[in-house]
Amino acid sequence: MTDADVRSMPASTWERAALAMGSDAVVHASVYGDAAFTAEQRRIFARVWNFCCHESELADAGRFVTLSVAGSPILVTRDRDGTLRGFFNTCRHRGSRVVGEACGQTRSFQCPYHHWTYGLDGSLRSVPGEEAYECRPFDKRDFGLVPVRVDAVGGLVFCCLDPDGPSLGDFLGERTAALIEGVLGAGRFEVAEQRVLPHGVNWKLWPENWRDGYHVPFVHQRSLGPISPPGEYHLLGNGHAQQCLRATQAYLSDETWRQLMSDPLPGVAPDEAWNLTLFPDTLLFLRGNVFFIERQEKVGPRHTVLQCRVLGLAGDTDEQRRNRRLAWQIWYEGPISTEDHPVIDEQQIGLGTVGPQCSLIARGPAASTGLRGDDNRLRTFWDAWRQWMGTTDNAWAVSESARW
Ligand code: FES
Ligand SMILES: [Fe+2]
Repeated sequence: MTDADVRSMPASTWERAALAMGSDAVVHASVYGDAAFTAEQRRIFARVWNFCCHESELADAGRFVTLSVAGSPILVTRDRDGTLRGFFNTCRHRGSRVVGEACGQTRSFQCPYHHWTYGLDGSLRSVPGEEAYECRPFDKRDFGLVPVRVDAVGGLVFCCLDPDGPSLGDFLGERTAALIEGVLGAGRFEVAEQRVLPHGVNWKLWPENWRDGYHVPFVHQRSLGPISPPGEYHLLGNGHAQQCLRATQAYLSDETWRQLMSDPLPGVAPDEAWNLTLFPDTLLFLRGNVFFIERQEKVGPRHTVLQCRVLGLAGDTDEQRRNRRLAWQIWYEGPISTEDHPVIDEQQIGLGTVGPQCSLIARGPAASTGLRGDDNRLRTFWDAWRQWMGTTDNAWAVSESARW
């Protein structure tokens, strides 16, 4: 079949592109819509391991963090015996969310509606007016908070809602776990700073952006482009991917460069850098003297909240914290807020069209390593997405009447 034959076929832009480029190299805009978002909650987020927080946020008994996973309120905490625990943050009485605060410390969890109270182990401890249940068989042991699996690698706490899903080790794979532990296992880390950035786009546009090195020389031509040359990328399996980076002074002042290169993390060279995009929606970023983590609260099909945690070392001086903060701002927060954010806005608007609805991720040969401009990190994301969603195309519930 010739190119002319392909173009003359009475098919949509997506079908023609898939035929010409290979179906793994095109993405239909339907994947960013309402139906896909609803399906992703159960097929992906309710089954994978989701990053929750750093262990330093649960350093003592009763410390807790809440988040949303698969549209479900989740509570992670540390029990009195030191065990990490996770629960559906849904009251067993009439379904209220039990804990509304984003984080805190407590001796027990009391539901705000009728004050049923749960221990740190999730067991139901007290029920006001419990005697009124006497006419029916009622045993508090049957009504504890429903647990979810929690586990940690390198101090990163994850949860999995699927009791029959893979272990965290299997989900991450050996290479990914080793990269995390290699850095975060070499020192005593703690969260030094947090930031949230609400954004009116589909959650997948961010992991796609993190895996898209093609845009860096254009979108970041006056920020990251000159100071952050790419190294190799590595596909790590299960949709996870690493991009190695380097650092050069370029336009930076001597003083700024000194601050960026000072106090490298244990075992890390001052100019060593990589980002690690965990499927589905977490970004881990190492930059010489700082490590940061971005996850998303996925509020709706076109509404996400980026949550960034900046890690420093326990015992840092004020100056060391300032240097780590500066590194985070220069290497990530500034370019993300002022340069990527508006571009992703435009992408979300463009993808909302009823016209041509197909994007291309066809750059670079199929390989497990190569250069930053290649799209293999994007394709490995979509490979994993198809696998978890149980579909053969990067598309979801495409209308048969699509004309473009
Ligand atoms: S809904 Fe929680 S105590 Fe009633
Ligand atoms: Fe970017």
